[in-house]
Amino acid sequence: MKHILSIIDLTPADLEAILTESALMKDRYRQGIFDPLYQGKTLGMYFEKPSLRTRVSLESAMNSFGGGSVCLESSGLNQMWKRESVKDQARVMSRFVSMVSMRTFSQEVIEEFAREATVPVVNVLSDFGHPTQAMADFLTMKERFGDLKGKTLVYLGDGNNVARSLLAASAYLGVHFIWSGPEDYRLDQDYVERVMAKAVDAEFIEELDPTKAVKHANVVYTDVWASMGQEEEAARREMEFAAYQVNEKLMGHAPSKAIVLHCLPAHRGSEITDGIMDGHQAAVYDQAENRMHIYRGIFSLWKGNWRV
Ligand code: CP
Ligand code: NVA
Repeated sequence: MKHILSIIDLTPADLEAILTESALMKDRYRQGIFDPLYQGKTLGMYFEKPSLRTRVSLESAMNSFGGGSVCLESSGLNQMWKRESVKDQARVMSRFVSMVSMRTFSQEVIEEFAREATVPVVNVLSDFGHPTQAMADFLTMKERFGDLKGKTLVYLGDGNNVARSLLAASAYLGVHFIWSGPEDYRLDQDYVERVMAKAVDAEFIEELDPTKAVKHANVVYTDVWASMGQEEEAARREMEFAAYQVNEKLMGHAPSKAIVLHCLPAHRGSEITDGIMDGHQAAVYDQAENRMHIYRGIFSLWKGNWRV
């Protein structure tokens, strides 16, 4: 059993194993091969925040293996961590389900839960990271480019959960990572140093000028400017991030073969324009589909196929 709590807690070999298994499971899915890996078994899901892609891809992945799922949401009668301790919930849930996915505000809650759980736990977004999103993003990049070594990923916007996971995955897979955004929204230096200590050859550049940042991009990546829970900052951030919008003019400074990724949901007209979202460079729906293939890959590895 290996929990998936953040990219930086995994090894490069773990990440490669997940991408390889996910590609294999995607191929089997596309061929219509049914692998009854979880018949009669259940995935337990915690969601403290909204979701489309993550929730549907987790459930679809589980259904594809003949299993089912139970979702606990932080609303109405279920007060999530107020009603019962994290520790007790982890111990009890482990008696019912084969594995647990968690979307929480706090990374600490996921880590505490994982310490007590006797089944594997996957972080499907916290304030700290979005590791399975980064995995789907790198699967998409591998499909488009083959070998990723030496490729350049340019991330425009907030140095947030998604950016953190992308930085660590880039460092592990030999991808140059360029961050571009307003100075106050840089990735935290402590985190950058931790990543660099784990992947000494990694290349990380901060370039505040977005037109210079995208000059040699293979991938131009953006995310919402105000993440879930930061809604009251949205108006201020709209102004602060305006120069970093992924639009036709900015893409004119990037190589014509560059692709555009966005973890979605997109705020069309804010961090990305309609023209780019609907244009030929966007790979955002392939990227979204790959969320399910990543979960199929992880669940397959958890079933005993973990070879590293
Ligand atoms: N990208 C992503 O995690 O989407 P959802 O919030 O819809 O799950
Ligand atoms: N940074 C965004 C990602 C959404 C998938 C958020 O946390 O809301």
